[in-house]
Amino acid sequence: MDKMLVISGNVLNGTVATSGAKNAALPILFSTLLAEGEHTFDNVPLLKDIDSTADLLKSLGCETVRGQGDSQHTLKIKVSKLKTFEAHYDLVRKMRASILCLGPMLAKYGEATVSLPGGCAIGTRPIDLHLDAMKALGAEIELRDGYVFAKAKKLQGGTVLFEKTTVGGTENLLMAAVLASGVTTIENAAKEPEIVDLANYLNKMGAKIVGQGTSVIKITGVEKLTPARHSIMPDRIEAGTLLIAGAITGGDVTVTKCQPHDLDALIMKMREAGFKIDITEDTMRVHPLKTWKAVDIITAPHPLFPTDLQAQFMALMTIAEGTSVITETVFENRFMHVNELMRLGADITPKTQVAVVRGKPKALSGAPVMATDLRASASLVLAGLVAKGSTEVSRIYHLDRGYENLEGKLVSLGAQVQRMH
Ligand code: EPZ
Repeated sequence: MDKMLVISGNVLNGTVATSGAKNAALPILFSTLLAEGEHTFDNVPLLKDIDSTADLLKSLGCETVRGQGDSQHTLKIKVSKLKTFEAHYDLVRKMRASILCLGPMLAKYGEATVSLPGGCAIGTRPIDLHLDAMKALGAEIELRDGYVFAKAKKLQGGTVLFEKTTVGGTENLLMAAVLASGVTTIENAAKEPEIVDLANYLNKMGAKIVGQGTSVIKITGVEKLTPARHSIMPDRIEAGTLLIAGAITGGDVTVTKCQPHDLDALIMKMREAGFKIDITEDTMRVHPLKTWKAVDIITAPHPLFPTDLQAQFMALMTIAEGTSVITETVFENRFMHVNELMRLGADITPKTQVAVVRGKPKALSGAPVMATDLRASASLVLAGLVAKGSTEVSRIYHLDRGYENLEGKLVSLGAQVQRMH
């Protein structure tokens, strides 16, 4: 079981580039089911979740070929007649996002049998909104033996209002609507940049989508889509994590190959805490700061503060001056990192949706901690950078799901971090 050893004391300085966005790549890879032929993607990050997606596509009958050496970030997906329409539990249980094969398979082949994803550490994460959306386009949905059985002769366009903003639900519906007959209007659509990237790829394949990135998306169904080539957008959550790594150590770090305007909420909050942040079209730079103020955050759908940066920002607040009230409104159980941060000496009072963090400079000291989910593991590594002595983060496989070579990136900035087998 891999562990990460983090030795504190170094100030991080320098420049680091982000990799491609996991949460854009996953839906885009599933969208290949909409068009037979060869799709080519660049800037695809080397992550466990990408491998899981490739495994699922292969189990359906697709071929996936990843480039070697310098072109290891290029991934080709060859889609021909599928050999099955069943996304099996053994594969789906490894990655909830597997549910994103439902919309494209239903749209292209008129049927899909997808295992229910099951819960996950950060919450129950149901898929009711996904299924309601498919039904709104005329699909028949049956839940039996832990599977979703979906059928549709030909999906019919319609208007779908999401009573709750859902990234995955919006993505599944987008991918179903592009081949439906007529026009589909999504109201209260999620506005995450990853949805814009997905819509851009679908339009490259010949789809007719307008409004992506706003809360109303209009899709005019077309007969057929054809494979194309696309470069995955930069990972804004990784970029934010790297910026916080520089900030928490009082360093001078520039994050490149990123899209700072996707992180307005984080940048605003870090400036409110006192950090000087410079941004250009594709870089963000945090300047050295000895102490910073505690600030409150409330996570919410884009463009508000991203839930995927809540744990990392909490680490920053544990050594701020003052009290930070952190409210998590997206997931019902996304404070698993709190107890682990408290093992490092953080003074946090967790309630159901709120955690009160009483920040104190130099308050943390190293100890063995355990990662519980992807972003919690990043938060513990960040805290380890400033926890006196050394910190051992176990169950680091969580980190590998969503960060490509995080330790290598941190070491390139001067951190003392190494993976222990
Ligand atoms: C996506 O998950 C991301 N995953 C998550 O990132 C991210 O935290 C989340 O969006 C919110 O931004 C991928 O893109 C692969 P939601 P998703 O549907 O689509 C509830 C990471 O760390 N809900 O927007 O599952 C749900 O329980 C991961 O990279 C329903 O009730 O998120 C949650 O409380 C973690 N019914 C809220 O909506 C549904 O049918 C938001 O979920 C669907 C969702």
